[in-house]
Amino acid sequence: MWGVFFEDINFGADGGIYAELIKNRSFEFAKPLMGWAIQRAKANEGEILVVNRKEENITNPRYIQINTEKGNFGISNEGFKGIGVKKGLRYDFSVMYRQQNTGVKLRLQLLSADNKIIGEGNLNPEKSSSDWKKQSTSFVATKTDAKAKFTILFEGKGKIDLDMISLFPGDTWKNRPQGLRADMVKMLADMKPGFVRFPGGCIVEGTDLANRYQWKKTIGPIENRQLIMNRWNVEFAHRPAPDYYQSFGLGFFEYFQLAEDIGSDALPILNCGMACQFNTGEVASLDELDPYVQDALDLIEFANGDITTKWGKMRADLGHPKPFNLKMMGIGNENWGPQYLERLAIFTKAIKTKYPDFKLINSSGTDPEGDRFNLLNTSLRNSNADFIDEHYYRPADWFLKNAGRYDDYPRDGSKVFVGEYAVHADKNVIGSSRNNWQSALAAASLMTGLERNADVVQMASYAPLFAHIDAWQWAPDMIWVDNLNAYGTPDYYVQKLFSTNKGTDVIASKIDGKNIIGQDGLYASAVTDKISKEVIIKISNTTDKAQNIDFNLEGKRSLKTKGYVDELANTNLNQLNSFENPDAISPKRNSITVKNKKLSLTLKPYSFNVIKIPF
Ligand code: AHR
Repeated sequence: MWGVFFEDINFGADGGIYAELIKNRSFEFAKPLMGWAIQRAKANEGEILVVNRKEENITNPRYIQINTEKGNFGISNEGFKGIGVKKGLRYDFSVMYRQQNTGVKLRLQLLSADNKIIGEGNLNPEKSSSDWKKQSTSFVATKTDAKAKFTILFEGKGKIDLDMISLFPGDTWKNRPQGLRADMVKMLADMKPGFVRFPGGCIVEGTDLANRYQWKKTIGPIENRQLIMNRWNVEFAHRPAPDYYQSFGLGFFEYFQLAEDIGSDALPILNCGMACQFNTGEVASLDELDPYVQDALDLIEFANGDITTKWGKMRADLGHPKPFNLKMMGIGNENWGPQYLERLAIFTKAIKTKYPDFKLINSSGTDPEGDRFNLLNTSLRNSNADFIDEHYYRPADWFLKNAGRYDDYPRDGSKVFVGEYAVHADKNVIGSSRNNWQSALAAASLMTGLERNADVVQMASYAPLFAHIDAWQWAPDMIWVDNLNAYGTPDYYVQKLFSTNKGTDVIASKIDGKNIIGQDGLYASAVTDKISKEVIIKISNTTDKAQNIDFNLEGKRSLKTKGYVDELANTNLNQLNSFENPDAISPKRNSITVKNKKLSLTLKPYSFNVIKIPF
């Protein structure tokens, strides 16, 4: 039911959860030395060349050639808005190189923001003839700095070719080499999400088809993963465009692995042969749709096929012989119109013919009330879509008004996936608001309506997930990070309370025989959990008054007398969490007593409460 939506937006992947610290490590950004600076007052001609061999290597055309014959110099990398360095932590450097003799040696230095050496290592490349070699070394940092930079000083005399210059912290998630930022993964793992939706979002579509997300280009050796400009490399909202590219170091294999690590199902979304309709609106002609459909079929084989199949073997070769047990995928993100329906029909036929039980998620665009949405929804329901993906970025009062949105939804036929949602202060201005207590309380209130209708709304994921404080394009976002730290917004704690208390069965929760959708400003849903043996009630008080509530816990089960309530509350709806005060809005636990199936509880003003009573 409750999952997470991952997109490389706001430096979510590169510069975020993908722990690579070197920006433009293989010199493939539009300006080849973007992110790099030469460390010398005046560079001699020919000291550093960017060599392009695109005919020979289309996926990784550029490398640099260093010549120290006329003297030593260095290059330094600024990282993604600086490099986060932690005192006492190991840093793992690696590089691909070629050199005819052993003339050039590399001195590696982490420099603090005020240019002091805070970590140092050496790498003496061996003779490599004309083949590329990879060599690694590690060193330990002596000081913490969130805005460090990394320098390579070239010593000795000679020429050397360098590519894939890489630096990772030694504390990646599960200590995987060149892996993910552990603190960010942990925040996801703590939520115990049911699924991880990836890789987006609009980056699935791309601004044009050439820049769409193609999963086959994101697996295998990282030096062969062809980099593209991120669709979010735009001046957007209130932030200037960052230098934003997709290295695909976090590729489809790593996404599957991440989902598996944190006990979630993988939920990939694939391009349906249409680029972002808000941008170019480019579509693949119908007689050229085959490669797109084939990508979808091959992805199912990659995830689930045994090792005698081509793509199943590829998965095994990457280190995962066991299938990932993929159950569903999305075809298209926020696509609409007759062009979408035509393409979707072709995908659906091909996939259902080969995999009849595989479930498909269909897009229903971005406007949850407009004519376009209603028309598309009707067509999708008529064609028996397995899941319809609804997105809503709306103000808080819209969320409260829509807490009963699915109470009268048809119970037969298509199910709903609320694939992206968040409270936005002004729906027309992305970035106009941060997640404050008001946005989280309104989201929690609507989510009681999703949970009450869990037979229809079978999945939901808040969006977007991550944002880097120095490089975001879109707000609000659930989790904010800088180069060293991460904190959860009030929405993070709401999402976590739902996903860690999801229960197994919905039960009725009523006031005067009616669903609780705003009477006295209250919103509620209830479940039982047959595994943990608990009744779980979720209730929000959206008013500025405390409310004394007498719960009548009717039903067959005999309840234990002692339970507890996890409470999020604040009288200031504008309250935010921050790096300085990450727990301003976070759950507080109190004990409760149940007598004769009755519970009396005072709900604080502006509060969301998760009540748990064992049976
Ligand atoms: O979540 C941010 C963006 O919002 C997604 O990329 C897109 O699907 C939606 O419009």
